[in-house]
Amino acid sequence: MAKFVDTIKRSTMSNIIIAIDGFSSTGKSSFAKLIAARLGILYLDSGAMYRAVTLYAADHGLISPDHVVNEPALKADLDGGKVAISFVRDEATGRHEICLNGTNVEKRIRQLDISNNVSHIAVIPFVRNFVDDLLHRYGADGCVMDGRDIGTAVFPNADLKLYMTADPAIRAQRRLDEMLLKGETADFEAVYKNVLERDYIDSHRAMNPLRKADDAIELDNSHMTIDEQMVWLGKVLKERFDIDF
Ligand code: DC
Repeated sequence: MAKFVDTIKRSTMSNIIIAIDGFSSTGKSSFAKLIAARLGILYLDSGAMYRAVTLYAADHGLISPDHVVNEPALKADLDGGKVAISFVRDEATGRHEICLNGTNVEKRIRQLDISNNVSHIAVIPFVRNFVDDLLHRYGADGCVMDGRDIGTAVFPNADLKLYMTADPAIRAQRRLDEMLLKGETADFEAVYKNVLERDYIDSHRAMNPLRKADDAIELDNSHMTIDEQMVWLGKVLKERFDIDF
């Protein structure tokens, strides 16, 4: 009998869709990766897809220094199949890394020039449709997915929706620490400005702006460690699904 229940739980869990939305640098992806590993399900980073499209635009001269996008040319390339996004599994970490036209761009898309441009690409409706199609194709059978509109627009029927927030100055410091750790040069003011700009653009765009879904559970992790967040989630999963996490 115990075995039978265990089997049902596992098969339910493998198809579960967990949507995590929130502002930039709230730690969504670190949290989502850990959840995916713990539950043995796929992790999908929707922001990485917007970043990959941004990198394509930057590499092909389709975005100007003052962030004006050549939309007709970008649309022609997306429609014409010139922007192929795929994933490779990193054997060391077991995680999936994003490729643009066959090249692994997981690290490149995190650099500041892409961070400064990505919100301007992500406001474009045809880009959002392009990314949404990819997310449905890869995630429909179960995943943890993070982004800005996953629980409100991409998977409105997700089994569990989390909305993550944290103080902007704390988020900027986290982003700066990450960059310095990677050996990149950046200063707090520039990163803080980028965080505030992206917050504004992400929550004010016309199509699917960032907002908390009515049925999402909010998690403010300004003063929480990742271990404390996992304990918090464990309680949520136990209450909602009777899952021992
Ligand atoms: O999570 P991130 O910082 O890597 O996201 C990069 C950008 O992509 C962010 O500025 C907003 C955009 N984005 C979005 O508009 N919708 C999503 N579902 C995910 C990201």
